[in-house]
Amino acid sequence: MVDQGKKPAGEGAGGGRGPSGRPGKDRPEQDRALPALFRPFRLRDLTVRNRVWMPPMDMYSVYRHDGIPTQFHYQHYVSRALGGFGVIITEATAVSPDGRISPCDVGIWNDEQARAWARIAEDMKASGTAPMVQLNHSGRKGSSGCSSMGHINATVPVQEGGWQPAGPSPIPYGHMDTPREMSVRDIHQVTDDFRSAARRAVQAGFAGIELHAAHGYLLSEFLDPLINKRGDEYGGDLSGRMRLLVEVTDAVRDVMPVGMPLLVRVSATDWAPGGWGLEETVEVARVLKLHGVDLIDVSTGGLVPGVSIPAKPGYQVPFATQVRNQALVPVTAVGLITRPKQADRIVRKNQADAVEIGRAALREPYWPLRAAYKLGMDREDIHYPEPYARGAYGISR
Ligand SMILES: Cc1cc2nc3c(=O)[nH]c(=O)nc-3n(C[C@H](O)[C@H](O)[C@H](O)COP(=O)(O)O)c2cc1C
Repeated sequence: MVDQGKKPAGEGAGGGRGPSGRPGKDRPEQDRALPALFRPFRLRDLTVRNRVWMPPMDMYSVYRHDGIPTQFHYQHYVSRALGGFGVIITEATAVSPDGRISPCDVGIWNDEQARAWARIAEDMKASGTAPMVQLNHSGRKGSSGCSSMGHINATVPVQEGGWQPAGPSPIPYGHMDTPREMSVRDIHQVTDDFRSAARRAVQAGFAGIELHAAHGYLLSEFLDPLINKRGDEYGGDLSGRMRLLVEVTDAVRDVMPVGMPLLVRVSATDWAPGGWGLEETVEVARVLKLHGVDLIDVSTGGLVPGVSIPAKPGYQVPFATQVRNQALVPVTAVGLITRPKQADRIVRKNQADAVEIGRAALREPYWPLRAAYKLGMDREDIHYPEPYARGAYGISR
């Protein structure tokens, strides 16, 4: 971690602009320190240009159902890279066909998919962003519908391109089909699929990998005692329930270059009585750190339907802070972080090492460029795409 917690100049009244009225050169050097949100961040050999990242967001837009990212995905990711995000994590990217959340999901289980990702990753990097891939297996929530197919919050029937979902135990999610209980052989296959997908992700040029162990998909289902009722070595106490995640982490780390960062996204609580909580999350984070995980991406929920979630601005930040402070591991915070000063404050106060801007980035691909202006940064200090410099925030004509 670099430069944590120093008070950045350029906060507060005046917005950091010099006497000339434009952000700039006539401010004294000591005033030109970067806002916390825009300080570089180092993870292994990777230096990320800032701490405003885009989290994984499934676009459910592979209409050919072949898992290959399309021209839409290229535009979606590269335009947000031009918008200044430090890291962009791809949407849930399946490690096998039945690891997709819906038939409209992207994947990275074959070479054709990896080639399509390589083009997207290359151009994200050309814009200064570190592209990371979120590897996922959907588990009992697999074969869900998507807007182009229907069956929303339900299981797509096999005759329409769906499949029977699989999970740790035969307990369905809401009104979805009952999953097949996975055998130990199935579990080992999942680990192999993550390993192969990680190998392809490295070849495709991604700068990092995130394992999706949140939101009630397979890796998180094994963790949660309300979903995992197994009596074998992959169930029972916490060490049994985290066995799959640890084995997948080892398999993936094993095929990654030493200098490439590995992230894991977790749900810090399932918001259900008697279920998964912060204490276990901290314990898992400690173990993952020992297995070569560099950062925990802290979210919540998605595991159990019908729970009440007290969503309000920044409501998940305290979970990230607790994981950071108790497990002594870098974290990102996510969830209803929408305003530049709110985002900057979270990093400046060491509540998280980076923040993720999700839905706000769907409506505003250039959110970081605007945030830099709002936080009073000099234009020279933010990477503007050269052809767009004449339209920079703060230029009125
Ligand atoms: C359209 C959409 C798709 C999402 N897909 C994923 C996903 O593939 N993987 C994941 O971990 N989270 C996913 N999420 C959750 C987001 O990463 C993020 O945690 C959530 O939107 C809260 O952040 P926000 O309030 O900034 O949007 C998705 C969210 C949205 C809105």
